[in-house]
Amino acid sequence: MVEAVNINVTKVAKSKITEVDFNHLPFGKYFTDHMLVATYANGDWQSVEIRPYEALSLQPSIVAIHYGQSIFEGIKAYRNESGEAYVFRPYDNFKRFNVSAERMCMPTVPEEIFIEGMKQLIELDKEWIPTEADHSLYIRPFMFATDEIIGVKPSENYLFIIILSPTGPYYSAPMKICVEETYTRAAPGGVGFAKNAGNYGASLLATQIAKQKGYDQILWTDAFEHKWLQEVGTMNVFFIINNTAVTPSLDEGTILAGVTRDTAITVLREMGLTVEERRISIDELVEAYHAGTLKEVFGTGTAATISLIEKLKYKEEILNFDLSKLTVAPELKHRLDDIRTGVVADSHGWMLHI
Ligand code: COI
Repeated sequence: MVEAVNINVTKVAKSKITEVDFNHLPFGKYFTDHMLVATYANGDWQSVEIRPYEALSLQPSIVAIHYGQSIFEGIKAYRNESGEAYVFRPYDNFKRFNVSAERMCMPTVPEEIFIEGMKQLIELDKEWIPTEADHSLYIRPFMFATDEIIGVKPSENYLFIIILSPTGPYYSAPMKICVEETYTRAAPGGVGFAKNAGNYGASLLATQIAKQKGYDQILWTDAFEHKWLQEVGTMNVFFIINNTAVTPSLDEGTILAGVTRDTAITVLREMGLTVEERRISIDELVEAYHAGTLKEVFGTGTAATISLIEKLKYKEEILNFDLSKLTVAPELKHRLDDIRTGVVADSHGWMLHI
């Protein structure tokens, strides 16, 4: 449909922004005044509207609830010192969203709805973008199946929604991670590369067990040998071995093609590191640790940004990283923050002005 989508806007009578304590913004807890809602029916996108953020009314029979036909994205908006709003690499998330949609047998969302709708929504709720360090407006586009029938088949009706959440850091302290050897996140041919809701639901038990043992997250390994490293529960992962940054490759379709991962690869190269996207095993990592060549491990993600890792557990072995000696991850984070907040010029065209 639509070259220029017609978005019907209904504004709130009174903003609830004064009810939110911007000095205390846990990740994803508060939502702005408005949301975008688009409906898909009869083989095309029908209405697109921006309306007050509110509860949805849905039948208990909808396909998304029973069979998990549901996908999402995470994007962030920032405000620079002059108060102008920018969104970080939304076109990359838009493309990945539609990759997920195709894998889950869902319709793709046109750019006019995803990007233009998102821009109009942010414009309306711009005041909600926090300006504190490590804070942002987290943008959550998602789509789910709304056919009211419990037969297993692709739905013919969908809702595409964008909600916005002013938010602080996802992880506020350096992380302790445990290598997962029992449960599996993804195998080739599965849905590991898609950002579908079920991937996260399926990760909860393994993560809960790790948390009970004092770890924040797990590092997934492959389904067959539990030795090839994949990604951490909420983020991609990088290993600094000598002057090389190694990150698991996307080739097997078992990990998310993270937008922050891709950004990190570019910036690490600009910092003078060699970057290798390849298979890497836990044995290679432990060996490098003992040889003194494994310098740092860190995670990358939209929510997680650049997350330092201070402890990595594998079997009885604990790899410790002295936070005072880390150089690469802090420098990478610093460079990304400067681009996102407009302190340095955006030479890559990553920031979309609102
Ligand atoms: C993100 O990084 O935006 C994510 O979607 C990860 C997570 C919060 C589930």
